[in-house]
Amino acid sequence: MSLIAMECVSKIYQTGAVSLVALDGISISIEAGEFLSIMGPSGSGKSTLMNILGCLDVPTSGKYFLDGDDVSKLDRNEQAEVRNRKIGFVFQGFNLLARVNAMQNVELPLIYGGTALATRKAHALNSLQLVGLGDRADHLPSQLSGGQQQRVAIARALVNDPEIILADEPTGNLDSKTSSELMAVFRQLNKDRKITFIMVTHDPEVAQHTDRVIHIRDGKMADDEIRGITSCN
Ligand SMILES: Nc1ncnc2c1ncn2[C@@H]1O[C@H](COP(=O)(O)OP(=O)(O)O)[C@@H](O)[C@H]1O
Ligand SMILES: [Mg+2]
Repeated sequence: MSLIAMECVSKIYQTGAVSLVALDGISISIEAGEFLSIMGPSGSGKSTLMNILGCLDVPTSGKYFLDGDDVSKLDRNEQAEVRNRKIGFVFQGFNLLARVNAMQNVELPLIYGGTALATRKAHALNSLQLVGLGDRADHLPSQLSGGQQQRVAIARALVNDPEIILADEPTGNLDSKTSSELMAVFRQLNKDRKITFIMVTHDPEVAQHTDRVIHIRDGKMADDEIRGITSCN
C-alpha cells in the first residue's frame, strides 16, 4: 500500500460565474520515505496540489488515499485531525510569529494539539536540536538569519513527529548556499527519521537534490522523472 495514492484528482475553483480548472486528472502514488519535488510554471497547480496532499483542501473529483484512508471527502475538523497526526508544513515565507522566540514558534502546533507544557518544551527543544538550532531557542525570528528562520519553521513542522513534510517553495527566499544547506537538513531527516518529503520548487538545482521530480503543467502531470506518465479522462 502506498503512503499517498491519488486517483484522477481534479480541482475546480468556482469564482462567481467563472470556473477554473486548477488540477485536471492527477494520479500519483508516493511511497513512504520518498524524497521528491514538484516543478511547473507559475499557475500550473502546484500549490493546489500541495493543499490537497496536506488535507488543507479536498478535490472536486477523484480520490485521495493517505495511508490507505480515503481523505478526499473529510470535513474541516477531520482534515485538521489528519494534519495534526501526519503532516508538517514548511512555507516559502517561513510563517513564523515575529513576537515570540524560536522555542515558542516550534511549540505552537503542540499548543493547538493540547499537549502539556513540560512535554511541549521538551519536544520543541528536541526539534530545534534536530535542525541544529538547540542554542537559539530564545532568539526572536528577527535575531536569526533567513536560513535559521527556515530551520525554525522546519523544527515546527517536525514537532508533531509527522510522517510527511510538505514544503511549498521552501528555498524561495534563500540564497543558493543556504538553499543547499537546507536541502541537506531535509535529506538528513528523510534518512534518519524516514520522513517523506514533498517539496515544490522553481529551482532546478534544488530539484536535483531530490530522488524524483514530478512536473505539472496546466493542472496535469507532464512528466514523472522516475515513473511513467499516468493519464486519466
Ligand atoms: N482559491 C482560489 N480560487 C480561485 N482560483 C484559484 C485559487 N487558488 C488558485 N487558483 C488558480 O488556480 C490555478 C493554479 O494555482 P496554484 O495552484 O496556486 O498554482 P502554482 O502554485 O503552480 O503557481 C491558477 O490559475 C490560480 O489562479
Ligand atoms: Mg504556488
